[in-house]
Amino acid sequence: MCGIIGYIGHQQAIPFLLDGLRRLEYRGYDSSGVAVKNGDISVHKKTGKVADLEASLPTKVEGTCGIAHTRWATHGGVTDENAHPHCSADGKIALVHNGIIENARSLRNYLEKEGIKLRSETDSEVLVHMIDREISTGAKPLTAVRRTLKRARGTWGICVVFESHEKIICARNGSPLVIGLGSGENWVASDTLPLQALTQQVIRLEDGDLAEVSVDGIKTSRFDGRTTDSEVTSLDGEWGEAELGDYPHFMLKEIHEQPEALRQCLTGRLDLKNGNARLGGLGLTAKQLQKIPHVRLLGCGTALHASQVGRLVIEQLARVPTVAHVSSEFRHNNPVIETDAIHFAVSQSGETADTLAAVKEIQLKGGEVRGVINVVGSTIARQCGRGCYIHSGPEQSVASTKAFSNMVAALSLFAIQIGRARSLSREKGKHLVKSLQKVPQLVEEYLANQGPIDEVVDLVKDAKSVLFLGRGISAPVAREGALKLMEIAYIPCLAYPAGEMKHGPIALLEEGSPVVVVAPNDSLKEKTVSSIQECRARGAKIILIHEEGDSIAEEADISIPVPATDPMFTPMLTVLPLQLIAYKAALALGCDVDRPRNLAKSVTVE
Ligand code: AGP
Repeated sequence: MCGIIGYIGHQQAIPFLLDGLRRLEYRGYDSSGVAVKNGDISVHKKTGKVADLEASLPTKVEGTCGIAHTRWATHGGVTDENAHPHCSADGKIALVHNGIIENARSLRNYLEKEGIKLRSETDSEVLVHMIDREISTGAKPLTAVRRTLKRARGTWGICVVFESHEKIICARNGSPLVIGLGSGENWVASDTLPLQALTQQVIRLEDGDLAEVSVDGIKTSRFDGRTTDSEVTSLDGEWGEAELGDYPHFMLKEIHEQPEALRQCLTGRLDLKNGNARLGGLGLTAKQLQKIPHVRLLGCGTALHASQVGRLVIEQLARVPTVAHVSSEFRHNNPVIETDAIHFAVSQSGETADTLAAVKEIQLKGGEVRGVINVVGSTIARQCGRGCYIHSGPEQSVASTKAFSNMVAALSLFAIQIGRARSLSREKGKHLVKSLQKVPQLVEEYLANQGPIDEVVDLVKDAKSVLFLGRGISAPVAREGALKLMEIAYIPCLAYPAGEMKHGPIALLEEGSPVVVVAPNDSLKEKTVSSIQECRARGAKIILIHEEGDSIAEEADISIPVPATDPMFTPMLTVLPLQLIAYKAALALGCDVDRPRNLAKSVTVE
């Protein structure tokens, strides 16, 4: 998704803008640009990486007020002209935008009829010309922006600078904007990551907010003109280092952060004495937990796979009907909502448009939704109002890893909590709490002894396609492994419940086809052995993820053991080799591990 960074203060803007753009690279982009005001406004923008933009800048780009942007193309090709910032015809106004202007075509037609020539193919550019027309009627910047946005339809996070005014005008509707507060200087950004090194005090704009950001303060107001006192919140609730450190890629760093991330998620939430768990932020009493008719989980991609694991754990431990839904489908299926059911929105970024839309649909039908989210203060977290943070720390690689494990851990905590409010015994609860408490250490042990990952990579990296199989709680893990290998190594993959494979996908198998099977030591293992044998009979090469010491290893061509744990918690271990296989396959194929083609870290468009 596009990224925005802005600065106004007493220091030179360009260092903040370039550093901010680099910290926003993880969102995925294809071009970038800056606009710096120093009397007039100088604009520099180009396709490619931020480093390419930096190399193209003149030696001196001076000015203490500026805005910058990384563009993930939605309207218009990847060209210098379509990169942001976009400027008014006289160059006295510059604008950056994240989101989609749905009525851009009609606004463009109107502007062209008025004789205004637009230079780009983008929807965003219409905004700066509309603002310019309002300024030419004598409107002040804030009024000009407000009037323009009243004629626009769609989503936006925008920053606008004016040659004639020492301020940045911002507005938010659907695409996040956060204002970082300094002393004699202020920043604006699409998310908190670029701000963490600069300030701990932020104002998160709400949908419909506008803000005038100047050297000596922030004035916020609503779309209808009412002024508002926006809440200043602190960033100090977030742990984890956003820097790459000694790792070659964020993905590898985040894979290895999983033990600590899991500890951050579990700490303070386990009650060994009573064999219980507690997610205080959910605001659910035992009485409520006893009475709920069912649980529904919503997510996309990896968050969906974590939800599918969570669904099984909740249903097993609490014996309450639980379903995991694809967010992008859920909202359009006119769901029947039971107002006393529990709904969870599962999301690392808390900005995924499909999941946000599903949350709003449930709320519109009288339901309540709780977030299971990583980014503190994100849009979905605030839309839900209640929930639990998974405390993975900043996850910057597009391929989600530690967030998956922490989502599963958080949902496992909930499963124990609701289970103990219902029929789960203290003894069973204590066993589960002890097992869950031990998972971070088991993850550490596996990461210290990863098994023959390189051998697997040699087998899959040139394959036409790779089949992933798993049963029960391992079926969503198989889907997660397929997603990882597809999204960063671009290898076509298919993930199927192992029992279903013989009803069709087995036709894909030929001599040497790689099949990855996830088979921990649970009640379905023997059934999975049958699936393995059916594959082998067709010449497939079996890559098996299994429990250490399990004789099932003999069924495989390549076997990767992981430490044993309770069957309910195996996904936090069996997923590890799949993450590493994808990471190393991507490297072997020369792919951009952290910024895979066509993908963004947070998909804020539907
Ligand atoms: C996972 O590796 C992908 N990057 C993607 O599927 C992601 O999980 C999905 O877009 C949901 O994102 P969220 O967790 O931020 O809502």
